[in-house]
Amino acid sequence: MREHWGSKVGFVLAALGSAIGLGTLWKFPYVVGDNGGGVFLLFYTFFTLTLGIPLFIGELIIGRRTQRGAVGSFASLAGQSSPWRVVGWFGVLSAFFILSYYCIVAGWGLNYLMLSLNQFYEIRSSAQIASTFGRLYEAGDVSLFWGTIFLLLTFGVVYQGIRKGIEQWSRILMVLLLLLLVALCIYSFTLSGFSEALQFLFRFKWRELQYSGILQALGLSLFTLSLAQGVIITYGSYLPPNSDLPKAALIVGIAVVLISFLTVLVIYPVVFTFHLPINEGAGLIFETMPVLFASLPGAMVLSVLFFTLFVFAALTSSIALLEVVVANLIDLYGLSRPKAAIFSSVALFFVSIPCALAGSGALFKEWLPMYGVNFFGTLDALVSNWLLPLGALLTSLFLGWRLPSCLVREEFKRGSIFGKIYGGWIFLIRWIVPMAILLVFIYESKIYSFDK
Ligand code: PHE
Repeated sequence: MREHWGSKVGFVLAALGSAIGLGTLWKFPYVVGDNGGGVFLLFYTFFTLTLGIPLFIGELIIGRRTQRGAVGSFASLAGQSSPWRVVGWFGVLSAFFILSYYCIVAGWGLNYLMLSLNQFYEIRSSAQIASTFGRLYEAGDVSLFWGTIFLLLTFGVVYQGIRKGIEQWSRILMVLLLLLLVALCIYSFTLSGFSEALQFLFRFKWRELQYSGILQALGLSLFTLSLAQGVIITYGSYLPPNSDLPKAALIVGIAVVLISFLTVLVIYPVVFTFHLPINEGAGLIFETMPVLFASLPGAMVLSVLFFTLFVFAALTSSIALLEVVVANLIDLYGLSRPKAAIFSSVALFFVSIPCALAGSGALFKEWLPMYGVNFFGTLDALVSNWLLPLGALLTSLFLGWRLPSCLVREEFKRGSIFGKIYGGWIFLIRWIVPMAILLVFIYESKIYSFDK
């Protein structure tokens, strides 16, 4: 029989664990900065509420109904040879690509954990502390080393299976992370740059929004909720039949938005207080947090604690990503869990090499001049801006138009206290989600110009 979650709380925490990860802690803060703050936050929140949460419910429905992984679930609902299977493969592919660079970023976290233990910020100025990241970025071998260690950690947990591995870890660590973030946020509140940060984050200057930011907000919203990657389908497949799906989705969705906001409220006061650059891209969190810690008493303890939790937050997400790939190999090819885990981890290691070396230019030297972004950035953009929205579009069409509506309604309502909002939800899934994603696509591909 298929293994199930030990308890409802365990499932919600695991889903939350998969959602809160590098998307919230690493990507969200710098993408907000790159896109001018307030307006971007508005779009992000809007997309999460109107597209993200409804899709989250939809994916849980697919997973719980079929009790299969991403590809298997589409096959069992639409038929073995149905083209809808492709949607499942899309998810697996996205999860695989994301994980290949996710390991590297999480590995940077491990590197900062080590740096913290060595108290690297002593006798350095804020600017010097911040510039340490640049060194790391260019040191491909160091990035690869830590990335591989992180991959091994991920492998270790997934190898052990659902209940023992994923569920237990997620419980304790998510709570700790939240407590630390709240404490840091209270401290940031006392910094002199706090009000400037608030202005940056909550003032809506429409003119500053580049329209490509809208696509990024959409992609990031799907990314942070772990959607369109088969993760939520897979997690839903380990759910017993009476669990309340809309409630779980609401809890996770709202928590993700709140924690994302908390993260930027910790980081941006530091940026403004210590006059660090705003558009710092991928390095932002690694450049600001050590500066913050260095200014605090007990810097070493704090920074060790923070980077430990950072790595764990990444781990509760990376195990979800690896689980998608592994669950599908098990479902489709009958591999044993250990074999599937080993096979996918080895493949991931190879794809993570060019990601690790992207900053050093040691591999694919011509990539950056040719594409305008390095290999790492290209993978990230491909997945977040195109594969995820496309996967989400197809999933909503599948739920809204392909599946029999009595089946969808029954699954939505079963065990839920939110049965009454079914009508609103199915309307969003049928019309609003697909149209919103299509509009963003049309805009981005410049097929039609909305500008006067
Ligand atoms: N949601 C995770 C994050 O924000 C990333 C992720 C995507 C994890 C998909 C699992 C599945 O970091």
